[in-house]
Amino acid sequence: MKFRILALLAALLVGAAAPVIAQTAPRALSMAEEMEVQALLRGHQIQGRITIPDERLATLIQPVGHDWRGFHNYTLAWVGGIALLSMIALLAVFRLKRGRIPIEAGLAGRTILRFNTLERANHWMVASTFIILGLSGLNLTFGRHILLPIVGPEVFTVISQWGKYAHNFLAFPFTLGLVIMLLIWVKDNIPNARDIAWFKAGGGLIGNKHPEAGRFNGGQKVVFWVTVLGGALVAVSGYLLIFPFTFTDVAGMQLSHVIHGLLSVLMTAALLAHIYIGSLGMEGAFDAMGTGQVDLNWAKQHHPLWVQEEMAKGRAAEAPTGAKPSGAD
Ligand code: HEM
Repeated sequence: MKFRILALLAALLVGAAAPVIAQTAPRALSMAEEMEVQALLRGHQIQGRITIPDERLATLIQPVGHDWRGFHNYTLAWVGGIALLSMIALLAVFRLKRGRIPIEAGLAGRTILRFNTLERANHWMVASTFIILGLSGLNLTFGRHILLPIVGPEVFTVISQWGKYAHNFLAFPFTLGLVIMLLIWVKDNIPNARDIAWFKAGGGLIGNKHPEAGRFNGGQKVVFWVTVLGGALVAVSGYLLIFPFTFTDVAGMQLSHVIHGLLSVLMTAALLAHIYIGSLGMEGAFDAMGTGQVDLNWAKQHHPLWVQEEMAKGRAAEAPTGAKPSGAD
């Protein structure tokens, strides 16, 4: 086996040196032979000998690189494409079947503070950086196939270059936001038995049951942990890539890239559902992250135990906002 590789490599090298030693009448490898060399080399690390200090440059062929390239060019694009399109399709079906989730008792016209300024500012720091990181990351995987043919090479180059700067630098505020999010919300996101009942009742999204929930329901706790734990893994693997060879070798970087790419596309697909429910999908939800004040009937419908706790602490609902209860007039 080793001999065959050497023989074929020798033939290759002689072929490459053809102009210099023309009298040996070398011949180039046929396509079939080149493919045979490729196949034989698969799985073999080819090291050279060098005199410069950077020993990494002695690696001529790193076989795992083939698998990594396959992941980058093929697997990641397919997994990402399927995950994102499936989620969009799922949300479209959900919208058609369920419509916009209404406040069933209508607007109370009184509001209660759901998230304070720090919570909202931090949420939007995490969300806006995540969205730009997500779009600039997707451009790395899909841009060449989707955006380039539409906008042309000049515009695509500018978009990709700025996208890459954004992707590198926004990693820092995103990570800071994750740490703050963990500190301020972890106490409300510890899983408990009520969450299991919430999931069994389909979260009130499927069917008409209204499962009990405290400040965050089971689904929101999933969103929280996916954001914090998934985000942490994406961030750590991303830092290993921003600082190449500082903390790990080429194999470690390939592994980081696989983790980074797969987790980010899966997180993006999962968060599409969150973004939908938090904006178009549910009446009254966006206010929680907009003004911070939610309608009392919205709060009672989705987080009845939390409302009771807030009332018990004397944090009574604000005076009427001027909104009329639905059905009035
Ligand atoms: C345009 C995009 C987004 C919108 C409209 C949005 C909206 C909202 C709203 C309204 C809430 C409060 C829900 C409640 O009162 O119970 C919320 C909470 C939250 N958001 Fe977002 N969000 C967006 C993007 C994101 C992104 C990208 C992330 C993570 C990277 C994220 C992570 C969270 C987390 C962890 C919570 C607390 C748990 C939960 O309520 O699900 N959000 N968001």
